[in-house]
Amino acid sequence: MYSYNGILPHIGNPKFTFVKGDIRCKDDVKMALENVDVVIHLAAIVGYPACKANPKLAENVNYLGTKNLVELSRIPIIFASTGSVYGSVEGLCTEETPPKPLTEYAMTKLKAEREVQKHPNHVIYRFSTGFGLSPRPRLDLLVNDFVVRALKYRELIVFEKDYIRSFIHVKDMVRSLLFAIEHLDEMNGEIYNVGSEELCITKEEVALKIKEYVDYKLKFAEFGKDPDKRNYKVSFEKIESLGFKTKYSLDDGIKELMDALSFLELRSCYYNHRCVDDYERKGSDI
Ligand SMILES: NC(=O)c1ccc[n+]([C@@H]2O[C@H](COP(=O)([O-])OP(=O)(O)OC[C@H]3O[C@@H](n4cnc5c(N)ncnc54)[C@H](O)[C@@H]3O)[C@@H](O)[C@H]2O)c1
Repeated sequence: MYSYNGILPHIGNPKFTFVKGDIRCKDDVKMALENVDVVIHLAAIVGYPACKANPKLAENVNYLGTKNLVELSRIPIIFASTGSVYGSVEGLCTEETPPKPLTEYAMTKLKAEREVQKHPNHVIYRFSTGFGLSPRPRLDLLVNDFVVRALKYRELIVFEKDYIRSFIHVKDMVRSLLFAIEHLDEMNGEIYNVGSEELCITKEEVALKIKEYVDYKLKFAEFGKDPDKRNYKVSFEKIESLGFKTKYSLDDGIKELMDALSFLELRSCYYNHRCVDDYERKGSDI
């Protein structure tokens, strides 16, 4: 759906096998589970704009796809869920905070969590918002999007500037998933917020940090709303108490994105919602 940039670097690695399939199709899931010890379940329609663009696809992939996987898997599942499931929260958000999802994306991910909880061996991660460079970068994510606007358009308008969001570098997301594989017994059956206290920051702080690297026009607006209503600090004590700590900073992500944007073209495949639109137009929604 989003081009093969993410997979190509691994082709030729004798330890890597690519199985092309669709999580909505049970035969494909069965095939993908052959000779596997653990599942890191990432497949989804990700982000509220993409899910809003095609809610039926989001429900089928995020929820029913996960249901297929849970039914067919006899091995541990590490599930990438999202902090979006909490919705609007008063005070510090812990894993005990009751989820009140506000978007299609968050609702389908919460329903998927409930399926994963039926599996005897599972770990659920509620990730902060990712940022940073990856083989197929997501330029629709907040920090990445701000860097693109600052660098390419030299202008950024920020609404709800005082809203606190939690962020995590994509490499730390990967590190946390490897950590789960190494600590499956200890972590089994639990939900963890994944991120860091240092990266629970306002949107204004993100925009000002980018200004340290690139000169651009920054404006704050009274209009505009984030449908997720995320404006709270998150506790990461639970995963940190097991020994997981993030390593990468906002500066790391901004600098590498700026380097990449000196040659990277802003293609649709880097924006989830644009591809989901295309996907529907092509009639590929089964
Ligand atoms: N990036 C973030 O900020 C973030 C935050 C919280 C949680 N997550 C979760 O992490 C996971 C990965 O997110 P990401 O940012 O890499 O998003 P992404 O959109 O890059 O990755 C999702 C992947 O799912 C695949 N996919 C979509 N429909 C599929 C289907 N029917 N069958 C098989 N594969 C399918 C896509 O091709 C894509 O490779 C998702 O489950 C997401 O909900 C991400």
